[in-house]
Amino acid sequence: MKAIAVEPGAGEPVLVETPRPDPAPGEALVRTLRVGVDGTDHEVIAGHHGNLPDGADRLVLGHEAVGVVEDANGTDLEEGQYVVPTVRRAPNGGNEYFERGEPDMAPEGKYVERGIVGAHGFMAEYFTSPAEYLVPIPERLAPLGFLVEPISITEKALEHAVASRSAFDWEPESAVVLGNGSLGLITLAMFETVLDIDRTYCLGRRDRPHPTIDLIEALGSTYIDSRETPVPEIPDVHEPADLVYEATGHAKHAFETVDALAPNGVGVLLGVPEPWEFEVDGGRLHRELVLHNKALVGTVNSHRGHFESAIDSLSQLPTWFTDDLVTGVYGLEEYQSAFDSDDDVVKTAVEFGGV
Ligand code: NAP
Ligand code: BGC
Ligand code: ZN
Repeated sequence: MKAIAVEPGAGEPVLVETPRPDPAPGEALVRTLRVGVDGTDHEVIAGHHGNLPDGADRLVLGHEAVGVVEDANGTDLEEGQYVVPTVRRAPNGGNEYFERGEPDMAPEGKYVERGIVGAHGFMAEYFTSPAEYLVPIPERLAPLGFLVEPISITEKALEHAVASRSAFDWEPESAVVLGNGSLGLITLAMFETVLDIDRTYCLGRRDRPHPTIDLIEALGSTYIDSRETPVPEIPDVHEPADLVYEATGHAKHAFETVDALAPNGVGVLLGVPEPWEFEVDGGRLHRELVLHNKALVGTVNSHRGHFESAIDSLSQLPTWFTDDLVTGVYGLEEYQSAFDSDDDVVKTAVEFGGV
């Protein structure tokens, strides 16, 4: 079967032939329909994040997949059922995090991530997975099923942000998303349409006209250009934010988030930056966090429950938004286009089989 893989140092994905996998007991065989591409895939291709499976000389990419069960192999799944796979798997037969259903909380060494860290991904015509990591999705949502994984990332991030504010009466009225990439825009749409937060803002660094700025404004949100309004100035130019969601991977933003927050606010950090040294006034940030009851929460990955919530959130996103967000779904003959980062690209996917 065909698969899309990256070899260390190559800097771009290639189409390869690889044997079709056989499901082990407890696993189902899934025929892949579509697999999304995000900033992490670009970081993996560039060699900035992730690693190869033990003994492999390349990594099959892809962690945002939707497929259809081809062979249930005696599991509870049904052949023909549409499913979305979760990303993390247990190395060496399992551990307490996976047993508790919290693989997203496992520390390094206690997980692999399909298509990212130490395990082949879903960008292949077929993949196998333990049935417990395959989340059923209604047929009508299957064409957009590759958005479930990134939405699940935000479901988890919000759960942890809200939990950090659960000791008092906290109702966010203003929220800032840092980053107008696919994760930032999906999150902004959730803030506007699923959570119904009164006033939202989204930060980028693109000139008008730009499709992401059109999307931000069509959602009823306000675009902030970080070249004109640096993150710490957001409270003066706009307003302090009850909630900040960082999805730029720009390391300074983690610290600048503290200044963008309103008293009692929470900043949730998603970006995965390269090591980068710069100066911060640690004493002032410490004081600001303490004297204004602010919180910063880092969060990564998501578990099955977040995928189930994400399917519900996906069903609530307006069709015009997902139509404009997904700028390209490419067949295998033009798979390279799914990895372009031209100015008019927002979110792309590779299509392995018709939906
Ligand atoms: P992406 O497409 O690369 O988006 C990042 C966006 O941030 C881009 O639109 C970029 O703008 C913008 N940006 C970067 N620096 C900026 C600055 N100084 N001012 C304004 N805008 C800036 O990536 P993504 O898929 O949306 O993901 C976002 C980040 O979250 C990445 O770091 C990714 O690794 C991470 N991530 C984490 C998790 C998790 O579980 N924690 C899950 C998914 C993704 P330009 O395009 O104009 O440069
Ligand atoms: C994926 C997560 C993963 C994270 C770190 C993200 O792009 O969506 O599932 O945990 O990267 O590797
Ligand atoms: Zn991702």
